[in-house]
Amino acid sequence: ALISLRQLLDHAAENSYGMPAFNVNNMEQIHAIMQAADACNSPVILQGSAGARSYAGEPFLRHLVLAAVEMYPHIPVVMHQDHGSEPAVCFRSIQSGFSSVMMDGSLMADAKTPSSYEYNVETTRKVVELAHACGVSVEGELGCLGSLETGMMGEEDGHGAEGVLDHSQLLTDPEEAADFVRKTGVDALAIAIGTSHGAYKFTKKPTGNVLRIDRVKEIHARIPTVHLVMHGSSSVPEDWLEIINNYGGDMGQTYGVPVSEIVEGIKHGVRKVNIDTDLRMASTGAIRKHLFDNKANFDPRKFLKEATKAMSGICKDRFEAFGCAGQA
Ligand code: G3H
Ligand code: 13P
Ligand code: NA
Ligand code: ZN
Repeated sequence: ALISLRQLLDHAAENSYGMPAFNVNNMEQIHAIMQAADACNSPVILQGSAGARSYAGEPFLRHLVLAAVEMYPHIPVVMHQDHGSEPAVCFRSIQSGFSSVMMDGSLMADAKTPSSYEYNVETTRKVVELAHACGVSVEGELGCLGSLETGMMGEEDGHGAEGVLDHSQLLTDPEEAADFVRKTGVDALAIAIGTSHGAYKFTKKPTGNVLRIDRVKEIHARIPTVHLVMHGSSSVPEDWLEIINNYGGDMGQTYGVPVSEIVEGIKHGVRKVNIDTDLRMASTGAIRKHLFDNKANFDPRKFLKEATKAMSGICKDRFEAFGCAGQA
């Protein structure tokens, strides 16, 4: 059944688990997530970005999610709109049936320029007012995601940053978080604690702690009833990176967020963990390998099935590590 983010994350908080929120763009990704959820008996969060809606077309994306709900009636599903760039985007998603929306007021509507605190409060507050009247949950974001070493925002391909931030923007301030929640009434809050979007998060293999879990604790202590969200939480699997590069790909050496650090975050109030890159890499690696090993094949179902299997494996690993397996 379709449920709201609030309903699911309240249950997660009561039972001390976290939820991966996977980005979806097509049928294979949704199949992969649902097959894994069915096998692990986990609830799911399916989220669509603006890029996903323009790739698939909003009606296709919506009907794919509704097909998943119909096919797996025993699995609770949240249909979440990721990174709404302005209130109108969120209103449109509410109208089309999403059970949860993110208003990302940490950036201006161009989704590149950091905004003022007042702008963030005002746009987010507006969305909460309307969304809650419709039974739809709202995620806000305070602080800007970017590398704590370089200040660079997420990069698409590791070549050329999209923007550089100063250090004060890269960590969410606990005092400001409390004020933001009081003024906006958000159900969930995305925080900046050292993660960044995309595959190129860390240039060296993380040994110790790469995230500011101390900051998660401080924020959680101030706003214990608001569910914390970690964006940019792909682990950038080393085995899939190697497969991609061994079968004709050319990705740079890079490292993601260790699963163990996410699990640490979950112990201290993180309830939603956004993952896109990991499924992209598993799917690309599996397709490259299949086409290399089966040069005569021209039936896309054969390599798309391999991609689905590869993505499903990542989903199962995350459902188990985050503790949501068995919670459906
Ligand atoms: O936060 C961004 C997600 O990874 C979605 O990426 O805009 O390319 O669909 P996208
Ligand atoms: P990754 O790029 O780490 O997968 O993060 C995805 C995300 O935060 C989507 O909102
Ligand atoms: Na989101
Ligand atoms: Zn994000």
